[in-house]
Amino acid sequence: MTCSPTRNPFTHTETAAVGVAIEGLSKNFGCFEVLKNVTFSVEPGEIFVLMGPSGSGKSVLLKHIVGLEKPTAGRVTVDGRDASSETTREQVRLALVFQSGALFNSLSVYDNLALYPREHQVADEAAIREKVMRALQILSLEGTAHKSPSELSGGMKKRVAIARGLVMEPQLMLYDEPTSELDPVMSATITEIIATLKDEYHVTSIVVSHDRELALGIADRVGILMGGELVSLGTPAELRAPKDPRVAEFLYPKIDLKNPRFKKLET
Ligand SMILES: Nc1ncnc2c1ncn2[C@@H]1O[C@H](COP(=O)(O)OP(=O)(O)OP(=O)(O)O)[C@@H](O)[C@H]1O
Ligand SMILES: [Mg+2]
Repeated sequence: MTCSPTRNPFTHTETAAVGVAIEGLSKNFGCFEVLKNVTFSVEPGEIFVLMGPSGSGKSVLLKHIVGLEKPTAGRVTVDGRDASSETTREQVRLALVFQSGALFNSLSVYDNLALYPREHQVADEAAIREKVMRALQILSLEGTAHKSPSELSGGMKKRVAIARGLVMEPQLMLYDEPTSELDPVMSATITEIIATLKDEYHVTSIVVSHDRELALGIADRVGILMGGELVSLGTPAELRAPKDPRVAEFLYPKIDLKNPRFKKLET
């Protein structure tokens, strides 16, 4: 499942976007069924946004796509290949921007970004420097190159994690909450970066987000996971007037001071 090659923003080499297929995916941790028979596919070059309440299984699902978790039942494929196999990870360039950032505090920001291209010897040090500095510039992080991630704010760490993903020159980019902890302008910048990677470089993006602006603004399709089940799959236009009352309540909750939710939780 590949499509025509396009130029990567950092290497200027040819690459091709890849598709993802999730088929009957179930995942149990002990007796707890976190994902329940989830099926959907993401087309090459598509922006797919996955939304859902906290604890509904979004991050666990992303971890299956990068092969960090294995299905209890069902199958996950990237570019038609088993997502959990070592060879898939060698042959498909994919980057996951973790919810927590997952940066190495013992390394500078610069070295965090340079780690992957150095380990995979994809370029010489001068070319790596150019890529790293360009990614830092795009995310307004030029002044942080020699700092440790531990010296940065939450939002800055989030941007470093995204910059590290960009330097990996991915065919498939997965983001776990890329705009949480960011101010509105930086959230808009990240949203624009995701859209640009699709429009100009044909990168496939799967974005887990609670950010309705991002989902409705740039997604080709949006999936909603609730209690481990995919309860809705459609275009942003369809989500502006959801038919399913659970989806409507999740996307457009009304603040009701006369009948507050926490009172319902207490009873
Ligand atoms: N390794 C694990 N072992 C046991 N339970 C796990 C493990 N990873 C996740 N879970 C459980 O699976 C459920 C779904 O977790 P997940 O992290 O996917 O939620 P989420 O939808 O990403 O939520 P949030 O929006 O808060 O990030 C949670 O109840 C979590 O405790
Ligand atoms: Mg999560």
